[in-house]
Amino acid sequence: MFQAKSASLALRAASRASASHVLRSAAYSTATEVKKITVIGSGLMGAGVVQVAAQSGFEVNMVDLKQDFLAKGEKIITSSLKRVAKKKHADDAAAQQRFIDDVMSRVHLSTDSARAASESQLVIEAIVENLKTKQSLFKALDGAAPQETIFVSNTSSLPIGDIASATARKDRFAGLHFFNPVPQMKLVEIIRTAETSDQVFDTLFAVTKKMGKVPVACKDTPGFIVNRLLVPYMMESLRLVERGDASMQDVDTAMKLGAGYPMGPFELMDYVGLDTIKFITDGWYTAGKGLVGDKLIAPSSLLEKHVKAGEFGRKSGKGFYSYEGVGADKGKK
Ligand code: CAA
Ligand code: NAD
Repeated sequence: MFQAKSASLALRAASRASASHVLRSAAYSTATEVKKITVIGSGLMGAGVVQVAAQSGFEVNMVDLKQDFLAKGEKIITSSLKRVAKKKHADDAAAQQRFIDDVMSRVHLSTDSARAASESQLVIEAIVENLKTKQSLFKALDGAAPQETIFVSNTSSLPIGDIASATARKDRFAGLHFFNPVPQMKLVEIIRTAETSDQVFDTLFAVTKKMGKVPVACKDTPGFIVNRLLVPYMMESLRLVERGDASMQDVDTAMKLGAGYPMGPFELMDYVGLDTIKFITDGWYTAGKGLVGDKLIAPSSLLEKHVKAGEFGRKSGKGFYSYEGVGADKGKK
C-alpha cells in the first residue's frame, strides 16, 4: 500500500532538495558515509548507474543472474565510457584508455547478490519491474546486508512502501529513480515513504550530488513526478495513432518540432522499452492507488501487439521502429 505522509515532512524533504546550496552542510552532517555501492541488475538502467557511480569514485559491485548478462552490462558501460572519454580527451587515445581503465578498476562483477550486499553501504536495485520479484530479492538481501546498509529501488512505477514491506529496514529504504540514458540524464528522483529516515534521505541526497546528478524529492505516489506526467502522454500518443488521427511518424515529428522534445513519444517508448511501459501501465491500471481503471493508462492494442511479438524497442532490435543492424544505442531505420 502507498504510505501517506504528513505535509510537513514532504515540504521539509522538498525544501531540502530545492535549497541544497543553503542546507548542504547541515544535511550532510547526518549522512552515512558511502564507499561501496552494490547495483543489482546490469541491464539498461543498472549498467548506467554502475557507470556513473564508478565514474564518481565509488567502488561498485555489479550483480546479475548470469555471467552472460554481466558481460552485456559491461559492454553497455564500456561503449558509453568511450563516448565520455572521447569528449574528455579528444585527441589523446592513451588518455582515453587510461580514463576507461581507471573507471572500470572500480567495477566488480558478481552473480552473488547476498555477498555483494554484505560489503556495501548502499544497495541499488534495477531488476525487472515486478513487485514479487523485487520483494523476494530484498527479503533475501535483508538477512545478508549489515544493519546500516541502505536499500533503494530504481522502480519506474511500483510503490516503494510495498517493496520495502518485504524487509525489516523500512526506515533505511527509499526510491532512487534514475533516468535513461543514466550517464546523460541529470535528474534523480528521491522517493521517501513515511518511514524513510532523515539520515537516509540526506545520505541519498549526498550520494546523487557526488554522482553529478540533480536530486528532487517526491512522495511515494504512483509515477513519482516524471512518469506520472510522461506515461499518460505516451499512452495518449498510442491512442491518437490507433484512432487513425495521425501517423506514428507524424506524431513523433510534431512533438519534436512543435514542442521541442528531443524524441517523439514512439521513439521514446522504443528507447525506454515497450515491455517496461506495459509493466508500468498494467500495474497502475489494476493496482495503482487512485489510478485503477483510469482511461489515461488503459491498455493499448498497439502496444500489446508489439510486446506480444517480442518487439520491445531498441534493446530487442525492433519496436515501433527497426534498429536491426544499426545497434541498440544508435539511430533508427
Ligand atoms: N552514454 C554517454 N553519453 C551519452 C549516452 C550514453 N549512453 N547517450 C547519449 N549520450 C550523450 C552523447 O555523447 C552526446 O553528448 P554531447 O552532446 O556532449 O556530445 C549527447 O548525449 C547527445 O547524444 P547524441 O548526439 O548521440 O544523440 P541525441 O542528441 O539524439 O541525444 C538523448 C540522445 C540524450 C537520448 C536524447 O535524445 C534525449 O534526451 N532523449 C530523451 C530521453 C528521455 O526522455 N529519457 C527519459 C526516459 S523516461 C525514464 O527514464 C523513466 C522511466 O522510469 C521509464
Ligand atoms: P532490463 O531488462 O534492461 O534489465 C534488468 C536486468 O535485471 C537484467 O539484466 C536481468 O537479468 C536482471 N535481473 C532480473 N532479476 C534479477 C535478480 N533477481 N537478480 C539479479 N539480476 C536480475 O531492465 P531496465 O530497463 O534496466 O529496468 C530495470 C528497472 O529500472 C525496472 O524497475 C524499470 O522499471 C526501471 N527503470 C527503467 C527505465 C528505462 O527507461 N528502461 C528508466 C527508469 C527506471
